[in-house]
Amino acid sequence: MLQIDVVVLAAGMGKRMRSTLPKVLHPLAGKPILSHVLDTARALSPAKICVIYGHGGELVRQTVGNDPDLIWVKQAQQLGTGHAVKQALPCLRKNGITLVLFGDVPLVKSNTLKSLVDKACEDNLALLTVELNNPAGYGRIIRDPQTNRVQAIVEERDALPSQKRIHEINTGIMVLPNMYLESWLDRLSNANTQGEYYLTDIIAMAVNDGVRIETSSPASDWEVVGVNDKIQLSDLERTHQQDVARKLMEQGVTFADPARFDVRGQLVCGNNVEIDVNCIFEGNVRLGDNVKISANCILRNVAISDGSIVHPFSMIEDTEIGENCRVGPYARIRPGTQLADAVHVGNFVEIKNSHIASGSKVNHLSYIGDTEMGRRVNIGAGTITCNYDGAFKYQTIIEDDVFIGSDSQLIAPVTVTKGSTIGAGSTITRDTPEGQLTLSRIKQISIANWKRPEKNKD
Ligand code: UD1
Ligand code: CA
Repeated sequence: MLQIDVVVLAAGMGKRMRSTLPKVLHPLAGKPILSHVLDTARALSPAKICVIYGHGGELVRQTVGNDPDLIWVKQAQQLGTGHAVKQALPCLRKNGITLVLFGDVPLVKSNTLKSLVDKACEDNLALLTVELNNPAGYGRIIRDPQTNRVQAIVEERDALPSQKRIHEINTGIMVLPNMYLESWLDRLSNANTQGEYYLTDIIAMAVNDGVRIETSSPASDWEVVGVNDKIQLSDLERTHQQDVARKLMEQGVTFADPARFDVRGQLVCGNNVEIDVNCIFEGNVRLGDNVKISANCILRNVAISDGSIVHPFSMIEDTEIGENCRVGPYARIRPGTQLADAVHVGNFVEIKNSHIASGSKVNHLSYIGDTEMGRRVNIGAGTITCNYDGAFKYQTIIEDDVFIGSDSQLIAPVTVTKGSTIGAGSTITRDTPEGQLTLSRIKQISIANWKRPEKNKD
């Protein structure tokens, strides 16, 4: 493949989104639309990527990131797609080829772009076109009836009725030969119904200059659909998610319903993974073999090893989970947590920034924060590590084979030594001796002849 320059047109304001957020910053699968386009462009290892921005410019730059491979060029007034590409001219190499992408067409695949680029060379031009059942609104591809070669693109609003019947449309994505660009773009006129400098007018110029026009098509039509309003955005979101689900199913993942599933980042699955409905995967999530994720779970930057099960309504962030663990239902596992193998975390348990070694159980209604927990520990219901004094955080160490009775508070910093048993209802403020029962509890008393207060009966 020839090395390309990329120009991304992203200056339009996207009025129909009815939002103060610039159109290209609206998220699809948790990532700005424009970032999808840039990441796809990067997969082609371009010499440079020139982004034409306008509306909400600074915010767009900040959000998408000022990576060194991006050149930002402002188009102060949106005078048309041809005018937009012209702004990029100073950044383009004198020879070579330039791929034009739209910042609001997020789902185009890098393979589709690769085949298009493969059709281009330094002195021809390649257009990505598709045949649509309903071509309304798009520029039409005009071909010579004899040779079938492309002659021109006519915008819908400038098209003759006979041209409007053409189903082959311009996706807007094209590869242009740099050496002709300046002369073509300089000759564009805005004498058309929209008063814009149309990039599409360079096609007829190219034909005049004897430049060959090649075409190719995407594997799926939805790759070239643009986002103009919230309805199209939600349609594309579902299309994308079902595409992700389909790929995972091809790899053997079982979904209760692939239409109720969202990945906002990357999900990598081992063999025989099962995912129930309404789960959201954010950032980088890796699931090992035989992992089951039950309904309504949210996992963000999580790695789960073979055989572990996450029960319904659990939320897990920045966490590593070993093999054969049980988590949830209703577990909240916060950043910095590592569960080793065969750890059980039950309902209404919150764990933060803690390491829990193999075979330990925190099964009910507990808060474990900033804790180093050994193996085979049993934490009774309602146990709290009191890790915060209002200013500083402190660590709790719970060594191997400890048993903590229900409703205990461990006031950090504190160490519960190997084999300790803590009596239920204790408040532990000092390190406990190994192997002993420690408890801090008021002695139980009973008061004879005590009477409950009673209301006057008369
Ligand atoms: C364009 C094509 C049309 C094609 C359609 C595909 C032209 C003249 N027409 O029409 O043939 O079928 O896309 O969707 O090219 N933009 C700028 N600066 C501008 C104008 C536009 O950056 O001055 C950007 C927009 O933000 C958008 C893209 O270019 O990302 C396309 O512009 P838009 O106005 O949507 O073009 P269409 O009229 O849809
Ligand atoms: Ca458009």
